[in-house]
Amino acid sequence: MDAIGRGTTGAAAIAGAGVQARPDMAWTIRELASASEPATFDAIIGLRMRCWAAQTPVALTRDDLIDHYDGTARHWIAEAEDQVIGAARLTIHDALEEVPEAVCLGSIYGSHPPTPIGFLSRLVVSPEYRCRGIGRGLDQVRIQAATEAGCRFLLALVFDVSGEARVAQLASHGFQVRGRGCKDTHPKFSVLPAPLVVERVIH
Ligand SMILES: CC(C)(COP(=O)(O)OP(=O)(O)OC[C@H]1O[C@@H](n2cnc3c(N)ncnc32)[C@H](O)[C@@H]1OP(=O)(O)O)[C@@H](O)C(=O)NCCC(=O)NCCS
Repeated sequence: MDAIGRGTTGAAAIAGAGVQARPDMAWTIRELASASEPATFDAIIGLRMRCWAAQTPVALTRDDLIDHYDGTARHWIAEAEDQVIGAARLTIHDALEEVPEAVCLGSIYGSHPPTPIGFLSRLVVSPEYRCRGIGRGLDQVRIQAATEAGCRFLLALVFDVSGEARVAQLASHGFQVRGRGCKDTHPKFSVLPAPLVVERVIH
């Protein structure tokens, strides 16, 4: 897919405001123009590091946080006060075997789901800015983008460290739990229990 550099602002932008802790704090969501924003991509990796280090019982390096999908994925960021405070990505695939962490799907699919498949991954929100709807906004823009791109099926993996609330949040977007997949084989993430495979048929 020609994934990067499209629609940096505009119709997909969502704005919100902090209500209690920092009533003056406004945030926006926009798509990253990856090719022309290397510093912003670095900030995404820094945010992944902060969020995942808190969830993973082993030390992580930058290499653990980047994969080859990052170069072609569409990325969205949430920004406040010129800082990246949230990030997430969407990749689109014609086969289950092509999705990120495909090993985690195991044999959960007896028959192939409809394609193209939109795969939602790498959602992170800075701890200081959580529970303000930023994660929900990053889901909404990705679901909308996948639908507009013709995806017929959406997939996500939810590791237990993300919490049941994350599964409930995806359920509120029409996702269902397909079942529990298999452990990741990445040397750092194989310590985590197998994730839940969460899916939604678009049409
Ligand atoms: C999961 C995460 C992205 C949620 O971000 P967020 O901006 O706080 O999410 P929102 O404000 O949109 O949603 C908060 C709502 O979702 C629920 N929620 C979803 N996942 C949650 C989580 N892991 N922890 C707390 N609440 C969560 C809350 O109960 C809250 O519900 P409410 O709106 O009814 O009060 C954030 O907690 C995070 O970065 N976690 C670490 C990385 C991670 O686990 N990513 C998910 C990968 S699947």
